[in-house]
Amino acid sequence: MISNTIHAAAAPTTGRIKRPAGALLAALLPFAALVYPFLATAQEADGQRLFRQRCATCHNIEPGQNKMGPQLLGIIGRVAGSVEGANYSGAMQSSGITWDRQSLDTFLAAPRQMVRGTRMTVSVPDAAQRAAIIDYLESQSPD
Ligand code: HEC
Repeated sequence: MISNTIHAAAAPTTGRIKRPAGALLAALLPFAALVYPFLATAQEADGQRLFRQRCATCHNIEPGQNKMGPQLLGIIGRVAGSVEGANYSGAMQSSGITWDRQSLDTFLAAPRQMVRGTRMTVSVPDAAQRAAIIDYLESQSPD
């Protein structure tokens, strides 16, 4: 009896506030679950497209295929300036960086601020584009 009364008293308030939001969430959840993996793949595809447009003139993703810049296969976890035969600046070779998502993000945002004297002058000011490119580079890692 007591619990019935409490329930009845509490119901109108909670009902009014929660029901529309709950219904919206219930309607959106399956949609979000369906669309999320698609978005993740779409971002990778976007990263590949951006890489082709912004990086591929100077960087290949095949081992042993250096262009003006070093090949970038497995760049995440690689020591900066370490590709044999690539045309590095002294600044890059002595930078002491081991590339991870964070350092790549900082470098791509403003290469010359991070590595003073680097030969790479191209930057990617848009954070979402950097994330997409880094996702793509990560997906191309050899292991
Ligand atoms: C105009 C040519 C050019 C373009 C375009 C370019 N880079 Fe570079 N990149 C270079 C050069 C040259 C170096 C070597 C820099 C040095 O030694 O100072 C380099 C170095 C790098 C390095 C360090 C590699 C290592 O082995 O330490 C990364 C990472 C990198 N570039 C990523 C990118 C990405 C991602 C893009 C596209 C958004 C890009 N670059 C676009 C010329 C370019």
